[in-house]
Amino acid sequence: MLTDAHHRIIDYVRLSVTDRCNLRCTYCMPENMHFVQRKELLTDPEILTLLQILGAAGISKVRITGGEPFLRPGLMALLEKIKAIPGISEIAITTNGVLTKSYIPALQQLGINNINLSLDTLQADRFFQITRRNKFTTVMDTLQSLLQHNMQVKINAVVMENVNTDELTAFTELTRDHALSVRFIEEMPFNGQGHTFSGITWNYHKILDTISDVYTLEKIADAPHSTSLNYHIPGHRGNIGVIPAYSRTFCGTCNRLRISATGSMKTCLYGNDVLNVKGMLQQNTQQHLLLPAIQTAIHGRFANGFEAEQHHTEKNMESMSVIGG
Ligand code: GTP
Ligand code: 5AD
Ligand code: SF4
Repeated sequence: MLTDAHHRIIDYVRLSVTDRCNLRCTYCMPENMHFVQRKELLTDPEILTLLQILGAAGISKVRITGGEPFLRPGLMALLEKIKAIPGISEIAITTNGVLTKSYIPALQQLGINNINLSLDTLQADRFFQITRRNKFTTVMDTLQSLLQHNMQVKINAVVMENVNTDELTAFTELTRDHALSVRFIEEMPFNGQGHTFSGITWNYHKILDTISDVYTLEKIADAPHSTSLNYHIPGHRGNIGVIPAYSRTFCGTCNRLRISATGSMKTCLYGNDVLNVKGMLQQNTQQHLLLPAIQTAIHGRFANGFEAEQHHTEKNMESMSVIGG
């Protein structure tokens, strides 16, 4: 079992399988984003070796992120192999929905029934402003198809002042007739643009207050390591949630490890890269040292995202597409 010095068990890894994306969300990356060369990404064998080591050490959940995961060639074949790794009992995916639709039946065959779909607006013109790409209809089509296939869908909507705060009600309305979850996320500084980020005004309190002006919110018991605070609205089929990603209220129960697209490890979203996993995987002589190195890095985790941020040397520079969210 992987544990840190603050008595937290780490059993969940977030793995970014590519930094590339077919959208250019303003809160995530600049239009002229520089993507790394393919040879810098973790290869399939490297990913599988790493997950075998992690699976044997107590990691049971893998979330595939990006960039956009479905841009990685051969993703389905990789997922099939991950599925067979001892110890890994759950695979989840976070996707922007542009390429996802055609993979739904194959995902279901693999037993992957949870999809977290990034969608920050329900308006086509605004979708273009946020993502700089004309893919609204495609993504809405994917959403519809996911629901038709009875997939468990969580919509991730980043709440941005002067951009989409007028859509909290429209998003909440989706939960009236659809058995999905809409999760409103506080914006974080990882926009890949080096902009100074002056904090947020739309924190989870303000988001919840605004929604509860219109709806009755009944608190749901959250899963043990949930990032979201979840609520049911009487008469609705789905639920809403807020993710205090910037307020960082959930650090005390954080059970996650992050592997970036280039094979760097972070033990906190707000912290430095703490281990060059790819480098160690590339050298046969070092592979037996990987698990001890991971254990040492985990042991050295900061207590929370604020402490990690204080020691973070590349503040505001990174794009979420490299870190993997
Ligand atoms: P579940 O596994 O379904 O609970 O999803 P998740 O919330 O862990 O993952 P998802 O990829 O859907 O992320 C939703 C939002 O939560 C994104 O904006 C993530 O960056 C953010 N998030 C996920 N994990 C963490 C974390 O450890 N710390 C912070 N601050 N934010 C996180
Ligand atoms: N702040 C908050 N959430 C973000 N995501 C990407 N960039 C940011 C940011 N700066 C979200 C995406 C996706 C998830 C992995 O992270 O919307 O749903
Ligand atoms: Fe792509 Fe996701 Fe970043 Fe948007 S947030 S540009 S969909 S990686």
